[in-house]
Amino acid sequence: MGYDFTYDWFSWNIPLFEKHLGPLRDTPINVVEIGSHEGRSTTWLLDNVLTHHDARLICIDYHLQEKFWPNVEQTGARAKVEMILGYSHRGLASLPVEIYDFVYVDGSHWSCDVLEDAVLGFRRVKVGGIIAFDDYLWDDPKYNQHGCPKPAVDAFLQMYSHKLEVLDVAQQVWVRKISD
Ligand SMILES: C[S@@+](CC[C@H](N)C(=O)[O-])C[C@H]1O[C@@H](n2cnc3c(N)ncnc32)[C@H](O)[C@@H]1O
Repeated sequence: MGYDFTYDWFSWNIPLFEKHLGPLRDTPINVVEIGSHEGRSTTWLLDNVLTHHDARLICIDYHLQEKFWPNVEQTGARAKVEMILGYSHRGLASLPVEIYDFVYVDGSHWSCDVLEDAVLGFRRVKVGGIIAFDDYLWDDPKYNQHGCPKPAVDAFLQMYSHKLEVLDVAQQVWVRKISD
């Protein structure tokens, strides 16, 4: 049996994931995923990056999709995954600081939420770790009544510029934390 997904908001990002996370494959990394939905990015990370026995993935989502755990079970790596059910700002604040190798920001797309995920995520990532923002250029008039990711990501990039190496800016933004 294969994975069961309704939506695909991930596949076109795979080249960037491979480019930046390839070197982390088969290493005992700690990863946080904000926004897991049905587990499409989750299962890809488990299959392709969190391949080391001691790798761990914290997922944060305020709504548990029915398909999430069955999809994660299919990876055979269920034991590596913990789901924190709730708002991302609360989930992130509950996590230890400066230990994560990668934080994927793909939860709420409203500006204030993305900014808070960026700031809290930055603090959780260790020096040398990576943060990626999905949907940098997303701006859907049907759902953007409280803004969109770009102003938040731009503010974060500007204010933290001396602490970041910018790796990619396109539909996604990828940065490396270079200092605390
Ligand atoms: C675009 S989907 C994530 C897609 C997934 N990363 C993938 O590639 O398949 C966004 C997810 O974020 C969750 N979400 C939205 N706002 C949130 C918030 N403030 N805190 C936690 N989760 C949130 C939604 O429930 C949804 O499952």
